[in-house]
Amino acid sequence: MRGSPYHRPVLLDEVLRFLFTTADGVYVDATLGGGGHAESLLPRLSSSGHVIGFDADADAIEAARLRLSAFGDRVTLLHRNFEFLQATLAELKIDAVAGVFFDLGVSSFQLDAPGKGFSFRADERLDMRMSRSQPLDARTVVNEYSEKALADVIWRYGEERMSRRIAAEIVRRRQRSPIETTAQLAAIVKHTVGERFLIKSLARVFQALRIEVNNELERLQHALVQALAVVQRGGRIVVISYHSLEDRIVKETFKQAAASFRPSGNKLIPDIPLQPTLKILTRKPVEASDREKRNNPRARSAKLRAAERT
Ligand SMILES: C[S@@+](CC[C@H](N)C(=O)[O-])C[C@H]1O[C@@H](n2cnc3c(N)ncnc32)[C@H](O)[C@@H]1O
Repeated sequence: MRGSPYHRPVLLDEVLRFLFTTADGVYVDATLGGGGHAESLLPRLSSSGHVIGFDADADAIEAARLRLSAFGDRVTLLHRNFEFLQATLAELKIDAVAGVFFDLGVSSFQLDAPGKGFSFRADERLDMRMSRSQPLDARTVVNEYSEKALADVIWRYGEERMSRRIAAEIVRRRQRSPIETTAQLAAIVKHTVGERFLIKSLARVFQALRIEVNNELERLQHALVQALAVVQRGGRIVVISYHSLEDRIVKETFKQAAASFRPSGNKLIPDIPLQPTLKILTRKPVEASDREKRNNPRARSAKLRAAERT
């Protein structure tokens, strides 16, 4: 199923270059999706190498199961959120891994698949849950959050300038009848921001709701700290992020773990020396080539950061 339409893996060569250090290692693919990156990593591993794949979306796990079937028991597929990374490895009696890879956000499949309600390009029930088993969905956020809470979500996670006005319009409309669909929400955004920058505003509002529904930033923060704890010396953490909020979390988490000093906060007292646990391998984030960006629109905003456990 190489090159299957499920989702075209982004920065594939770069991911392998940074992630792969040993053929005998156990690697975690924390965001398996359709298994695109895992499919290219697995042939490099020896018979003792193994990939453990997480995905919060049961449909992604099914797609990956098909795509990776040739690798048999060298892959473990888990329908699980990556926030349970450390606990899951403990359950599997694995104390250290050679690499942890995150390819954040949603796949093209999730954006395009009917019924998931992620996209403003289709008219569907407002849902946006990566996992059907989680209770909070976008319909609840849109219809039940206070005007201030909604505006804060749209501002903080979408960085949308018109957040307050959009939130006010949502509240005005939902007083008449609940907002049930992506098209209704898109119409409200259009009414508020006008035609000129509509697509950008829609993308920002939908991104904000998705982040809120799936608690994406907090989960990423927790999972990165866990990744630091489970990667063996010389092992790697590789993260592809697709917006500045994610990238900032990755950058700051790596920076803190790589710091040799903690500022004392007092000019008269020297900074406190630390034993860094991480070496940053990408001073600046790696971006896709122009060619990849042309061929795969998802690659346009991708930023890869990699670090090695010291
Ligand atoms: C960009 S796609 C990964 C695509 C994959 N690398 C490939 O090449 O096929 C991101 C995937 O991560 C999953 N995901 C996002 N956040 C997650 C989380 N906190 N825990 C588990 N899976 C998550 C999504 O459901 C989606 O399938």
